Amino acid sequence: MIVKNYFGETADGRAVDCYTIKNTKETAVDIITYGATINSIYAADRNGVFADILAGFDTVEGHEKYSDYEGMTVGRYANRIAGGKFSIDGIEYNVEKNENGKTCLHGGAELSRAVWKAIIIDDCSLEMSYSSPDGAMGFPGKVDFKVTFTLFEDNSLKVDYYAVSDKKTVINMTNHAYFNLAGKGDILNHELMINADAYTPIDADSIPTGEIRPVEGTPFDFRVSKPIGRDIGAEDEQLAIGKGYDHNFCLNEGDGPAAVAYDPESGRMLEVFTDLCGVQLYTGNFLDGTKPGKKGEGLIKHAGFCLETQYYPNTPNMPEFPQCTIDAGEKFTSCTVFRFSVK
Ligand code: BGC
Repeated sequence: MIVKNYFGETADGRAVDCYTIKNTKETAVDIITYGATINSIYAADRNGVFADILAGFDTVEGHEKYSDYEGMTVGRYANRIAGGKFSIDGIEYNVEKNENGKTCLHGGAELSRAVWKAIIIDDCSLEMSYSSPDGAMGFPGKVDFKVTFTLFEDNSLKVDYYAVSDKKTVINMTNHAYFNLAGKGDILNHELMINADAYTPIDADSIPTGEIRPVEGTPFDFRVSKPIGRDIGAEDEQLAIGKGYDHNFCLNEGDGPAAVAYDPESGRMLEVFTDLCGVQLYTGNFLDGTKPGKKGEGLIKHAGFCLETQYYPNTPNMPEFPQCTIDAGEKFTSCTVFRFSVK
């Protein structure tokens, strides 16, 4: 079942709607048209008690004033582009340097500030679309984006990304949900598995150095599930740069989940499946309690963890990484599934 409700209005007067997709298990997902944002996910714990397992905001104003991309659809280029520039076929493009005036983070302030158009496809599927003009944020090509959210009876939420451009361009899309399977507190006791033998270390601007470093023997080894907080404070140059985990993991190939998170207290479990080659684990390191989140409660440090499925960061400047440049007319597609259960 999908129900549409008015959610609020942006400061410049654009109306924002909220679509709730609910299955017969009472699992529900709120998606708002501002930023094509997954705003809330209501999932049962092992006793059947439901809680909202996303940290974020309950008003448009919250998103507009305080957002660190909570729940948002992120593009045109998720993660960072070094120096806010890159070249395609010898043409240099300068894109918005929205991070410290140095790097382009999450494609700049376009997609996640846009009000997307929503179409209810059927009882469990909602399509959001947005057309970005040629040159927006400095990127080449007019790009038509579509993101389809489908909630299945087995409590999986499938997110399908689609983009097509009229010029050769780069596309990297993700969702930036901050999960907190307890629905409260911080996520340091959540156990996490990431199916990655290696990760991409970063420089002081959080740009990958190009090295593909084995996780073996480092705090980045999540191949066997462990509490997120176990090694987060370890003495490690990479953790120091990120103030915790804020790194891309190079996913191993295979059909199993890319990542599994589990909250031992509530019993809630999240499995993440993707056809993409990377995932950014970000543990809310820069939250400090000063931004009011849902119900006005401060978004505390480590209030949520993000598993941002993606191409590795900065691909247009790193030809050795798997590339996400598409030709004019070529379709970009990718798919990520978040499956909720209890243990
Ligand atoms: C980045 C973080 C950033 C966060 C919110 C993550 O994807 O890697 O460094 O603080 O997004 O913008």
